[in-house]
Amino acid sequence: MCRPSHFTVSYSINPWMKPEDPTDTARALSQWAELRRAFERLSFTIEEIEPGEDLPDMVFAANGGLVVDGTAYTAKFTHPERAPEAGLYAEWFARAGYDVVEAVETNEGEGDILLIGDTLFAGTGFRTDTASHREMAELFGREVVSLRLVRPDFYHLDTALAVLDDRPGHEHIAYLPSAFDDASRAELERRFPDAILVDEHDASVFGLNAVSDGLHVITAARATAFQHQLREAGYEPIGVDLTELLLAGGGAKCCTLVLRTRPTTPEEAR
Ligand code: ARG
Repeated sequence: MCRPSHFTVSYSINPWMKPEDPTDTARALSQWAELRRAFERLSFTIEEIEPGEDLPDMVFAANGGLVVDGTAYTAKFTHPERAPEAGLYAEWFARAGYDVVEAVETNEGEGDILLIGDTLFAGTGFRTDTASHREMAELFGREVVSLRLVRPDFYHLDTALAVLDDRPGHEHIAYLPSAFDDASRAELERRFPDAILVDEHDASVFGLNAVSDGLHVITAARATAFQHQLREAGYEPIGVDLTELLLAGGGAKCCTLVLRTRPTTPEEAR
């Protein structure tokens, strides 16, 4: 996670960002701290990266890279405003002991790339290039399913699709059908016939920008219908108010980068 010490909206790279409207950094900080506490209550291990002064979007750690099996594939941002974040995240990964592989192709990390079971689902259309999908398929030796996003307000995959259960054999997701093109929607229907379909309102308050441990699902407080759907499906939704961060087009998942360490071998565990 990255504390939003320098959070503001000073440029616009998605339809949510209105530099002419005021932002409240103190409010962003307290909402973010609430999210952090929610993670702590679920016993997540949390690492923090130092926020860069001139990087108001750095709070959105999901975009900092993709970490699978101890290997960090770095981000390469579409917009110059965020480009310097990639190097800061890469340095952090290296210092923390991850194998860092520098991306050649444009990609915005876990904002657009979600691991579900053994498969990587990768968004494209606004930020992440399909060339990077090929790059990461090769790097991680995993199937990569490309999904095309078509709505500018749902410009990253993690704004339109929530991973509820990522365990192989138990894969379960929620998504907003209208955020995808026909082929991608058909692919999602085929692979996830029991997915939760979220309504327009709850998607637009960033309910799908959620973090799940397989039982508890941290989502937007205002996504009440989605929370009901989650309860019906056996989950325990936890609503968090991140309305200040939504002024930059982000929510709970955007603030979170999952650090998937390499599985410990029996020798290492000894
Ligand atoms: N203002 C940021 C941008 O447009 C928000 C990023 C949200 N991150 C995410 N993973 N969806 O890049």
